[in-house]
Parts: sequence; C-alpha cells; structure tokens
Amino acid sequence: MTYLVVYESAFGNTREVAEAVAAGLGEGTEAVDVGTAPPLEGLDVDLLVLGGPTHAFGMSRPQTREDAEARGGHPPSTGIREWLDAAEGASLRVATFDTHTRKPNLPGTAGKAAAKRLRALGCTLVADPEKFWVHGDRGPLLDGELERATTWGERLRETRASAG
Ligand SMILES: Cc1cc2nc3c(=O)[nH]c(=O)nc-3n(C[C@H](O)[C@H](O)[C@H](O)COP(=O)(O)O)c2cc1C
Repeated sequence: MTYLVVYESAFGNTREVAEAVAAGLGEGTEAVDVGTAPPLEGLDVDLLVLGGPTHAFGMSRPQTREDAEARGGHPPSTGIREWLDAAEGASLRVATFDTHTRKPNLPGTAGKAAAKRLRALGCTLVADPEKFWVHGDRGPLLDGELERATTWGERLRETRASAG
C-alpha cells in the first residue's frame, strides 16, 4: 500500500503534524510540502492525506499567507487551495486535517474545506477531517498533539480494507 501526506505550513506546526501522521502511516511514507508536491491529478497512491493551517476560517489564500509572513512565518507561495484548484478531477481515497488555534476556538477549518473540495473532485473520504490544536496564532502545538497525529495515521492505515 502506498501513502502520501501533502501539507502546507507557515510556522512549522502543520509540517510537524504531517510528519507525525506519516510516521503513523508507516515506514517510508513521505510528508511533502505542497510547494513541491506533484499535481493531484497525476497521483497514484492508495491513500492521500492532505493538511494545512486554518486561515480565516478555511484554507489559506494569497492574502492570509502574506499576513502569516508579516507575522514571521514562512508560507509557501502556493497553498493547498491552489493545489486543489489546479485539478479537474481525481478519484483517490483521501483524508484531511488542519491545525487550528485552541483559544479562541473559531468556527471553520481548512480540513473540512479541503475535504469538501476533494469530494467535489471525485475523491472518497475515508475519515472525518481532523483538527490539531496550536497555542495562539503561530503555535506551538498543544502537548500530546503529535502523539495524537501518529495514532490518527495508524488508524487511517487500518481503513484500507473497509473503506474506499
Ligand atoms: C492570517 C491568519 C489567519 C488565521 N485564521 C485562523 C482562523 O480562522 N482560525 C484558527 O483557528 N486559526 C487561525 N489562524 C491560526 C493558524 O491556524 C495557525 O497559524 C496555524 O495552525 C499554524 O500552522 P503552521 O505552523 O503550519 O503555519 C490564522 C493564522 C494566520 C496567520
């Protein structure tokens, strides 16, 4: 079985979660920055996991990435929204996650928005979108979140026989 984790991250938290999820999915699973990820339409994997930071109640946009940069982050020039928009269709098994500020717990998540877009493209969600919590607007992650991410990756691995 082949797995791929594609992530976007400005302050490093989503990258850390992506790497922990990849570890849960198993040895050899790569976590790839969306800036260097191959196009969605060309992907041939048994499960794609896509994650990004929640920006302004959803997936980042050029303006929110500029804001992140102004706050000291290093966002990619193109985010998961644009990566998804570049595809016309796909039929992969997928799961999504995001990182999200714990307090205040605002509505809207990048993970749900990405899942909606992936479904519209023709993909099959194998799990509900997951949220991983950060302190403030730049992190760090709350204690225990990386362990939770690895466990989530392990569970996703187990979905392969029953879902899709
Ligand atoms: C411009 C901007 C908008 C944000 N909007 C939200 C939001 O609507 N809800 C939320 O929970 N967090 C929001 N955040 C906090 C991000 O979710 C947080 O920066 C992110 O989880 C950190 O992930 P990263 O280290 O991978 O960039 C925002 C952050 C930035 C920079």
